[in-house]
Amino acid sequence: MDLGLSGKIALVAAASKGLGRAIAEEFAREGAKVAMCSREEGAITAAAEEIVRKTKGDVLPIAADLATREGCESFVQTAVAKYRTVDILIVNAGGPPPGRFDDLDDAAWQKAVDLTLFSAVRLTRLALPIMRKQRGGSIVYSTSTSVRQPTQYLNLILSNAIRASVHGMLKTISADLAKEGIRVNAVQPGRIATDRLIQLDTDTAKRQGTTPDAVRKRYEEQVIPMGRYGRPEEYAAAVVFIASPKASYINGVSLQVDGGMLMSMW
Ligand SMILES: NC(=O)c1ccc[n+]([C@@H]2O[C@H](COP(=O)([O-])OP(=O)(O)OC[C@H]3O[C@@H](n4cnc5c(N)ncnc54)[C@H](OP(=O)(O)O)[C@@H]3O)[C@@H](O)[C@H]2O)c1
Repeated sequence: MDLGLSGKIALVAAASKGLGRAIAEEFAREGAKVAMCSREEGAITAAAEEIVRKTKGDVLPIAADLATREGCESFVQTAVAKYRTVDILIVNAGGPPPGRFDDLDDAAWQKAVDLTLFSAVRLTRLALPIMRKQRGGSIVYSTSTSVRQPTQYLNLILSNAIRASVHGMLKTISADLAKEGIRVNAVQPGRIATDRLIQLDTDTAKRQGTTPDAVRKRYEEQVIPMGRYGRPEEYAAAVVFIASPKASYINGVSLQVDGGMLMSMW
């Protein structure tokens, strides 16, 4: 299937490793030109070089902290200075730290709001005028299945609470922007094997007095019908499809990629 991505400009946020890195690589493989960012200049440059080596694609690494207004502006402006436009925006960021309600003060909540909600608000605000000018575009928020069913993630209250607001925003603007040819969707990872998952499994293991391997085994044997964690490239394939022109009538949806883990019918 030709996804129609050749020559399109895709901005992928938080992409030096994990889900964002896999998404950036998949876009490059499909012929899109990719601007990708993360905070660490060395890490994002190395990731971009590796993607170019594997795909022969056109990839621009940008060092930017998405938890700040300046970082979001610098990411989009640097990308547009090189590629002139934005066809696709993938909103992604590092995850807020684990913790239960009693563990977290105002400062921790504020930091998570800046990282998870405001990065989505700011990147969207920066990309919209450019998409409007060219009368079309596609925005995908990479969030989490915890938005639908937080019960597996009781120690992730910051993520559970704040990502839900991203979904409220997405559902609202997807209806507003459709007339302007801009589609807005979300993809929700369940348990995809990345460094973040190792961090979360380690935290859960500490709280439960067990090992990270035992935590993973429990998920694989008792929670995930497919019996395994997902691979980043499996997640990336879904994101890249939904973002692509081939998904031209898909708007306002949230697709979970979780091996069947969620038991909700919607
Ligand atoms: N993996 C899963 O199954 C899963 C499930 C549900 C939700 N999620 C969420 O999906 C997101 C990505 O997860 P992942 O598994 O890919 O995590 P990961 O492997 O830890 O990668 C996180 C990426 O985000 C970048 N990053 C972190 N903070 C940033 C910031 N302030 N500004 C710019 N870039 C930043 C990191 O690079 P630098 O350190 O260089 O900045 C890195 O490239 C997280 O929010 C996570 O909570 C993941």
